[in-house]
Amino acid sequence: MWLDPKNPQLNHNGELHHLLSLDGLPASILWQILDTAKSFAGVTEREVKKVPLLRGKAVFNLFFEPSTRTRTTFEIAAKRLSADVINLAINISSQTKGETVLDTVANLAAMQADMFIVRHAASGAPYLIAKHVAPEIHVVNAGDGRHAHPTQGLLDMFTIRHYKHDFTQLRVAIVGDILHSRVARSQIQALSSLGCPEIRVIAPKTLLPSNVESLGVRVYHEMREGLKDVDVVMMLRLQNERMQGALLASAQEFFKYYGLTEDKLELAKPDAIVLHPGPMNRGVEIDSSVADGQQSVILPQVTFGIAIRMAVMSILAGN
Ligand code: CP
Repeated sequence: MWLDPKNPQLNHNGELHHLLSLDGLPASILWQILDTAKSFAGVTEREVKKVPLLRGKAVFNLFFEPSTRTRTTFEIAAKRLSADVINLAINISSQTKGETVLDTVANLAAMQADMFIVRHAASGAPYLIAKHVAPEIHVVNAGDGRHAHPTQGLLDMFTIRHYKHDFTQLRVAIVGDILHSRVARSQIQALSSLGCPEIRVIAPKTLLPSNVESLGVRVYHEMREGLKDVDVVMMLRLQNERMQGALLASAQEFFKYYGLTEDKLELAKPDAIVLHPGPMNRGVEIDSSVADGQQSVILPQVTFGIAIRMAVMSILAGN
């Protein structure tokens, strides 16, 4: 299998071979994934929820970092495609005896793995694995450090499309810890590719990357200003585990200025939707009345994640 050296996710036909990042992916591939997921959303509502597209294939979930939504929905998605799913329990694996990630992966590949779903605290870990596996094996990035979380970005786009239909008419605000967020990066890349004309980021200076404008976004430090007339509000979790030093006075202070409350949400369009990738910190980045309110689509995001992950795995297996 010859992969494009400029974009090692694509094969020589320009088709998706690994999904490592949304950066540099042609918009046609994003639309292909969104359209395929739409067809799978119907499957997930049927009484018999299985299709045979990955029958006989072995999908290995390798989560070196904690996860609730991503790990579980990848497992459900793979099972709905009729794959055999193996969840490696990292904390009782030979990783604890000093085995390297690449040796672990090589041993699992020797068990005839067809696909690895990888979450790792180190940015770039899924790239390293993709570089070392045999050409017929596919790798999906399920979140690496602060770099990328492509299937989260895609399920967020699926959610926005479901409720708002046309990206080219939207004003979207992404709020909170942009600096440490792999989700924000994937969301910005996807929104740009799909034609969203106005992407705002709302955060204190300490939680923004220094070159953030180069991503094509408008920067706001004042939340009430940034939320004015937006169609979509995408909240982010404070990534305390990735913060070095004191970037915030306190969680209470952060909530006062950047927490989404009902009165702040009133500044957005009346039919604005609220997304959050989870896990949520209620009372830190979002008030419970908003998280559980009429405009919240946080739980539908999780459900749509199954269809998106089915789409990604079935497309990879078919290429
Ligand atoms: N959104 C997300 O990645 O959640 P998990 O950490 O629970 O997978």
